[in-house]
Amino acid sequence: MNGFAGKVAVVTGAGSGIGQALAVELGRAGAKLAISDIDIDGLADTERRLKAIGAPVKADHLDVTEREEFLAYADQVKQHFGTVNQIYNNAGIGYAGDIQVARFKDIERVMDVNFWGVVNGTKAFLPHLIASGDGHVINVSSVFGLFSLPGQAAYNSAKFAVRGFTEALRQEMMLAGHPVKVTAVHPGGIKTSIARNAIMADGIDAELVAANFDKQFARTSPQRAAQLILNAVHKDKARVLVGPDAKFLDLVVRVTGSGYQRMFTTFLKLASTKSAELRGTAGTG
Ligand SMILES: NC(=O)c1ccc[n+]([C@@H]2O[C@H](COP(=O)([O-])OP(=O)(O)OC[C@H]3O[C@@H](n4cnc5c(N)ncnc54)[C@H](O)[C@@H]3O)[C@@H](O)[C@H]2O)c1
Repeated sequence: MNGFAGKVAVVTGAGSGIGQALAVELGRAGAKLAISDIDIDGLADTERRLKAIGAPVKADHLDVTEREEFLAYADQVKQHFGTVNQIYNNAGIGYAGDIQVARFKDIERVMDVNFWGVVNGTKAFLPHLIASGDGHVINVSSVFGLFSLPGQAAYNSAKFAVRGFTEALRQEMMLAGHPVKVTAVHPGGIKTSIARNAIMADGIDAELVAANFDKQFARTSPQRAAQLILNAVHKDKARVLVGPDAKFLDLVVRVTGSGYQRMFTTFLKLASTKSAELRGTAGTG
């Protein structure tokens, strides 16, 4: 991977999944890494992998929802490496639960981590990225930032918000002539711990949801996802769709417009009838 050698890259949520893979791929490409997470063990694992590659690394506990800490952290990273070129606002959590049963505090938590975490990271690092003369903000949304699904309103809201925020930022940087590129990332199903770490509404079988995600939806490896993201960063793409499922779903939504909603609910109704029939529970509620 070209274009990353010597660059200072910040990755949040680097203790697992896409964040860990991004950090490792960046390290392999010659970048210097500032990695953070709330999962200290996962973070230590990523730090170990980076050291094994020989990549310079600064590892810190950071909760992306803690704004003051994030602002102070940005200054520390600048002081440590002398400059900062890229921030990957990647930290995120999953959620499952219909609006009717979702608790306010869970919806707020999903917004805090998945949306405000991205805002905090972007605003904390933007002055340093501009000063570097060669900056890049990479914000991780989701395919769920392109279309909505029942049970995903909290997650959809945060990921749509990340998309809106990121697309506005890219235009603002271009208009102002600042040396900062901006990329929105929309992964499809990636084989990570996202479903196992997700918040679930009461009454949801968390194990079943996580197993379904792992078996049916998570198709792309984190390493492949990281490579696709870095390729898009290198080419200064406004948007990167990660995985064939993301590309397919994006196409469905663009072709059908709001019609995808009827399509998806029809499909989900059929699928749940079929699965109830297979379990012999159809008609039992
Ligand atoms: N896996 C997928 O299928 C998928 C699809 C679309 C988008 N995404 C997005 O990709 C990003 C990475 O997710 P992943 O799939 O690698 O999941 P993951 O659970 O494997 O990793 C997420 C990491 O974020 C960390 N984290 C959670 N809350 C945090 C906080 N408050 N502060 C700092 N770190 C925190 C976790 O500790 C974890 O290490 C997320 O934004 C997620 O929404 C994932």
